Amino acid sequence: MSGYQQPVKVHTYPLSDAELETLAPDAASARVDLLRRVLNYHGWLYYVQDSPEISDSEYDRLFNELRRLEEKFPLLISPASPTMRVGGAPLSELPQRRHAMRMYSLDNGFSEADWFAFVEKLARLSSEAASGSFWVEPKMDGLAMELIYEGGELSVALTRGDGELGEEVTANMKTVRNLPLVLSSVNGDFPSLLEVRGEVVITRSEFEKLNMRQLEQGGKVFANPRNAAAGSVRQLDSKITASRPLRFFAYGVGRAEGVSWSGQQELMQGLQALGFAVPPQARLCHSAASVAEAYHLMGEERHEFPFEIDGMVVKVNSLALQNELGFTARAPRWALAMKFQAVQETTRLKAIDIQVGRTGVLTPVAVLEPVSVGGVVVGRATLHNEDEIKVKDVRVGDLVVVQRAGDVIPEVVRPVLEARSAGVQPYQFVTVCPSCRSQARRLPGEAAWRCVNKSCPAQALEGLVHFVSKGGLDIDGLGRKTVEQLFNAGLLKNPADLFRLEREQLLRFEGMGEKSADNLLNALQSALKNVILHRLIAALGIRLVGEQTSRTLASRFSCLDELAAADVETLTSLPDVGLEIADSIRAFFDNAANRELVAELKALGLDPQEGLKSAPIRETLLSGKRIVFTGKLTRLGRTEAAEIARAAGAQIGDSISRKVDLLVAGSDAGSKLGKADRLGIEIIDEEEFLRRAGLSEVSSDDGRNNNFLGQHSLFGDKNGN
Ligand code: IVH
Repeated sequence: MSGYQQPVKVHTYPLSDAELETLAPDAASARVDLLRRVLNYHGWLYYVQDSPEISDSEYDRLFNELRRLEEKFPLLISPASPTMRVGGAPLSELPQRRHAMRMYSLDNGFSEADWFAFVEKLARLSSEAASGSFWVEPKMDGLAMELIYEGGELSVALTRGDGELGEEVTANMKTVRNLPLVLSSVNGDFPSLLEVRGEVVITRSEFEKLNMRQLEQGGKVFANPRNAAAGSVRQLDSKITASRPLRFFAYGVGRAEGVSWSGQQELMQGLQALGFAVPPQARLCHSAASVAEAYHLMGEERHEFPFEIDGMVVKVNSLALQNELGFTARAPRWALAMKFQAVQETTRLKAIDIQVGRTGVLTPVAVLEPVSVGGVVVGRATLHNEDEIKVKDVRVGDLVVVQRAGDVIPEVVRPVLEARSAGVQPYQFVTVCPSCRSQARRLPGEAAWRCVNKSCPAQALEGLVHFVSKGGLDIDGLGRKTVEQLFNAGLLKNPADLFRLEREQLLRFEGMGEKSADNLLNALQSALKNVILHRLIAALGIRLVGEQTSRTLASRFSCLDELAAADVETLTSLPDVGLEIADSIRAFFDNAANRELVAELKALGLDPQEGLKSAPIRETLLSGKRIVFTGKLTRLGRTEAAEIARAAGAQIGDSISRKVDLLVAGSDAGSKLGKADRLGIEIIDEEEFLRRAGLSEVSSDDGRNNNFLGQHSLFGDKNGN
């Protein structure tokens, strides 16, 4: 099979299903020709240059379009089509070597429906396979590798290349630290010949560090972890490989002499015993239906993996059946890669806005042509900071790839370089604050530019929004919009003004009726009386002092004045308070305006004493448990519920994972409920939560089933049902 030649730059966008359906043979022939040239170009960028210009999902869509057209118009099939190609082309400088057994690719599915279609096809070939067990594991997004062990020693490492010819990268792979150079013997025994196949990856966190280093040293910045992994392995100098944080995870074998495994599960356990790392979250599913469940679950958890995964691989577990089923020209008949829904899309970057945070940090925000990413319309996305924009070389006017990862803020991944127009200029980061126009500063060692003007209005506004937000006093009915209105009307200059608001003033605002005005004033009065110290500390918005540090401070100092008087030495003697945090606290209270604010708040009656000490932690049914709340609670506010949980000795989490013990679900609970159920996490309601916290009269054995979804869960609940 020939490698990729340097192709002509050409691009197209995928056609819709409807457009494909109506394509006449002539048009199909032209389209197929174009798709082949486009895929050839992007394949060359991806495999040879390690530097793709389009997202994987876009490539997959083009690839699938070509496959569909070739299926519909068989006359157009050609051996030179990219659909006939197994994988990447070898980089010419590295010595090449033939795989003893070809390294196949995998067929792709993109939905549950595709999975069941695969099972149907499988059933026609082997009903035993279709109704048997399946091994599932993450589809790791890295570089495929074969490691050959002779007499128990690593002798050759070969990339997959085009599946038949790989590149020899033995010296390079020997620098990968989690791979055995010598097999661990099992009962003094090891296979005489073993070809272990797997994926070389870079973890997400290591990837970011690597790119920062590359930028500092003027080196090449990688588009994604997979390209970084591939670029690091395919080096002529193994010292470079050694300096890169690579990991190898095994997923299968080629030739294997002197071992006998009966199933994929046993094989994986065998590889682990021989000293290989294997992918996390791999498991055996006993039916096609539970594979579908596992697919959804892994899709939800994909962002919790330390490295990038782009799907789940399913394999018929029995090796005998695998053998029977064999391969097509491209892929095994006994396996399917189930790709996850694209959470990346391409759109236009219209502008870069600079947001001023409450501590003066200037954060660049991408203003985008709105685009739906995995079902959510995205119009703005974070660009983090100046370096990030430089590393990614994002410019206003570019087409950019945007990505949404779970619940986190959407981000700009990279520009589509080949679509860049000639006049597009590199982005120059601002040097003045867009709000107060004072000179911004970037301190050495910091990634952020800051507005250091203490009376910057944007900072004051953000400070106020924070003061009343969930992370602060959590005042009901006082969101960003209302705060903005009050601020712009000159009624709020600092947080103390909140407690001086009058009914008549509030009623002048549009949308503020008598009832909401009264509710707001009541909420403020209640905060004045009831707030506890650590919440007030958190509300002040001292840089680097979040919820946890506020708690620490409140457990050591009995009031704000005492904290304000503490010196750096006293502060750093507290757990988790380092010099930087201590300095920031000192700087806050050394500022005259802040000291005045504290005095004003005190004069208004906001002066909680002995914060946490007034809420001692009790031993309850919730002690030591990790709890997540979801949905709308009826008796309790979220903050109050969290306080109760903490006082009852529980820890609060904000996302569902296997580490969570209990989900407290109110009405209109969202995806957390389904996910918790699938993981077999116990789900209770508000009443039951209060009871376990020791705050309600309901008896423990009233026969109620507290699991909202009943006891049915494919993954079984914690009682093994
Ligand atoms: S099995 C014949 N398992 O996906 C079976 N492949 O399109 C072939 N990949 O480049 C592979 N994670 O390197 C398998 N858990 C996994 C995988 C995996 C990632 C890659 C593989 C290959 C591509 C196949």
